[in-house]
Amino acid sequence: MSALHRDFLDIRDFNRAELVSLFQLAERMRAGEYTARPLTGKALAMIFMKSSTRTRVSFEVGASQLGGTALFLSPRDVQIGRGEPVSDTARVLERYVHGIMIRTFAHADVDVLAATARVPVINGLTDLSHPCQVLADVLTVRQHLGAHEGVPVAWIGDGNNMANSWIEAAQLLGFPLRLACPEGYDPDAGFLERAREAGADVQLLRDPREAVEGARVVTTDVWASMGQEEEQDAREEAFADFQVNGPLMARASRDAIFLHCLPAHRGEEVSAEVIDGPQSRVWDEAENRLHIQKAIMAVLMGGEPL
Ligand code: CP
Ligand code: NVA
Repeated sequence: MSALHRDFLDIRDFNRAELVSLFQLAERMRAGEYTARPLTGKALAMIFMKSSTRTRVSFEVGASQLGGTALFLSPRDVQIGRGEPVSDTARVLERYVHGIMIRTFAHADVDVLAATARVPVINGLTDLSHPCQVLADVLTVRQHLGAHEGVPVAWIGDGNNMANSWIEAAQLLGFPLRLACPEGYDPDAGFLERAREAGADVQLLRDPREAVEGARVVTTDVWASMGQEEEQDAREEAFADFQVNGPLMARASRDAIFLHCLPAHRGEEVSAEVIDGPQSRVWDEAENRLHIQKAIMAVLMGGEPL
């Protein structure tokens, strides 16, 4: 295994030109124009400390389509769930596999894994960020609106891991982002600060109606993320005015699309008429996880140039 490798812990691990190349590679994969199998003979370890449908299946199928294999490691079965240190796990896994994907709670654990393992580490969601998902979301924007640069995006609801990665995407890829979050549920201060310092067009608002004005992408996420289940009642109260529904969508641009990373709670953060309606692109968005993650694995693990 080479000591020279790249990790993908957050969107800023790629620069703007690299991100555009990554989208173009994913688009070739989606179109069936890319038939190479750069992961032949290689394996991806997937550590899941939280539940997953999309992330697990898309990484597993994606690795296989690229000629490799993926191993699903749940805390119920592997020693990390019984307290074996993340750094020891990294030192062992790097002897067997060519990349590690991890979904966990503390982002610091992913930093430790990446600092220790001499193979690429991919962030499959932490409490802080969800970069694979937001790259899939931007890929969906390109698919349905023809471009991403300059396309106004509105984020409605919790300033959570998804919101943080959207802020980074706006900064790196150059599109305006308005976030409407109730007080006390702001995105991470570090992500906001970095975006401001970079001169990104990112605005934090309190009124969802103001945020969606003129937006061509309206997106939201659950009110209580994984690990926050006991806060459900308090959050339902705080987010009561932050549902994406028909009247809110009517204030966005007429050609606006609706995105949601899923799983969704109809009747909470989004009404059924919106998520199941004509502006929703959530199924293409879910499919795009496969294409963008294949592109990420091909580059990080398979030597595909950007
Ligand atoms: N959007 C997403 O990451 O879905 P899963 O939790 O099912 O992986
Ligand atoms: N914010 C959500 C995203 C799920 C894909 C969570 O962390 O649970």
